[in-house]
Amino acid sequence: MTLNDTPRDIPIVRTIAELRQIVADWRREGLKIGFVPTMGALHQGHLSLVQTAAKHADKVVVSIFVNPTQFAPHEDFDAYPRTEASDAKALTGTPASLIYAPKPREMYADNHSTQITVEGISEGLCATTRPHFFGGVALVVAKLLLQCLPDVAVFGEKDYQQLLVIKRMVRDLNIPVDILSGPTQRDADGLATSSRNAYLTSDERKVAPLLHATLQDTAARLRAGEPVEGVLVSAIQKLKDAGFDPVDYLELRSAEDLTRLHSFQAPARLLVAARLGKTRLIDNIEV
Ligand code: PAF
Repeated sequence: MTLNDTPRDIPIVRTIAELRQIVADWRREGLKIGFVPTMGALHQGHLSLVQTAAKHADKVVVSIFVNPTQFAPHEDFDAYPRTEASDAKALTGTPASLIYAPKPREMYADNHSTQITVEGISEGLCATTRPHFFGGVALVVAKLLLQCLPDVAVFGEKDYQQLLVIKRMVRDLNIPVDILSGPTQRDADGLATSSRNAYLTSDERKVAPLLHATLQDTAARLRAGEPVEGVLVSAIQKLKDAGFDPVDYLELRSAEDLTRLHSFQAPARLLVAARLGKTRLIDNIEV
């Protein structure tokens, strides 16, 4: 290990004022700023987004904030893993320069009253069972981008609908940032890495890779020209038979604007969300 490889503690700031000061200093030095927003519980998927950001920027800010406005009251906001110490440790092995971990009060005033709705693209798919979700994501991402004012921000393709919602919002609101995406990271058996995988029991963990395998099998059948409707119905049944209950959706959509496709035409994306026990898993692949 050379001196440059020595893991170093990454500074953590908790206020907008501190974040802005540091970013403004970097800007004065002519440096380019990258940003990776997260809710913590960092895994390989997040760390790869930090690497992507570092390819496009001199300094990378990683935010850690479990955002209350994207959880419905019955969802796992309280149970969501909060692992700041180990997250900070994991980031020491990456090019991250700064952690921004605001408290909820720093992010949301008691009487905060602004909402952001990104119509069309944030309807259907995940919004069907989580109607509050994309409004909460759009709001917090807009706030984070305006707090940090990065040149580029990186989001994972695993949350594909979220990625397109954010791209649309940034375009519509003229937020001066380039939105980049990083490919889904997977365990060796194909399961997409996710903070929520920690909720799976060991039996469920054995079944979970079937989600990705089913997407791959479905994509192959679509490419071979089988009719969309029949292929999707049989794939959903296969997931149900394996214990996924409910299967919220398995759909073929346009990769550009998520329009539903009734016949296969590229660029297309297959997207799935299904519950395994208490854990809701999502995944998607390009077809
Ligand atoms: O994808 C996530 O982890 C979150 O939805 C995000 C983008 C950090 C907003 O809270």
